[in-house]
Amino acid sequence: MNSIIGNGLRLGVNIDHVATIRNARGGRHPDPLRAAHIAIEGGADGITAHLREDRRHISDFDIDRLKAELTRPLNLEMAATEEMLAISLRHVPHACCLVPERREERTTEGGLDVAGGGERLAKVIGELKNAGIRVSLFIEADEKAIEASARVGADIVELHTGAYCDKALANDIAGVASELERLKRGAALAKAEGLEVHAGHGLTYNTVEAVARIKEVQELNIGHFLIGEAVFGGLKASVQHMLSMMLAARNGAG
Ligand code: PXP
Repeated sequence: MNSIIGNGLRLGVNIDHVATIRNARGGRHPDPLRAAHIAIEGGADGITAHLREDRRHISDFDIDRLKAELTRPLNLEMAATEEMLAISLRHVPHACCLVPERREERTTEGGLDVAGGGERLAKVIGELKNAGIRVSLFIEADEKAIEASARVGADIVELHTGAYCDKALANDIAGVASELERLKRGAALAKAEGLEVHAGHGLTYNTVEAVARIKEVQELNIGHFLIGEAVFGGLKASVQHMLSMMLAARNGAG
């Protein structure tokens, strides 16, 4: 993703849940590609889509169309399986974000076990990088996972903000402070290890500013909340508002 707001903070808009709504009734409405174009009009620096093994939201056809028609970089989230590797090598998205995937989960719960998945992950990462795809690993902001990510050759780590957002939702002030501290320490360590730092999961207007202030973070990936807000005020407006909050926080005004 190339365009930059504030001091190097980009917004990737995850459009999975436009497909979730479409799939509730079958057919083609609402169209995730149309949502992607609107998010870009609102200022999104890139579009993120998660092709799940069970295809519960984004489909293979969505990925074909996104890759063919998007005017901003596509970040393809996927499990590190042979099937997904073959799909990404066929499409060559700008970036792949490798995530853990369990069929029974509602969303991506917890980060990737990088230390435990070392050799196999390193092979998938190597093949993606050889094809010119930037590789990101979705991990908890923990020292072991960050160091292992650097060892297996990732370009980027995306730090999981889910625990921080859960504490915020529960009004757990001490929990929020300690999760933020973990994210800050993780971002600094990842940068020191030579990794680009992204963050995401569960972010809302209430939780985005503190993460946007972490100076090592270069990209936030946000989906569910933006698509939910779009029901009330439209997608372009929700993306614009999120970006303005990110920018203000990064520049010290938010
Ligand atoms: N980043 C990653 C790696 C994810 O798996 C997800 C959820 O698909 C997100 C960011 C976005 O999370 P949310 O939809 O809660 O904003």
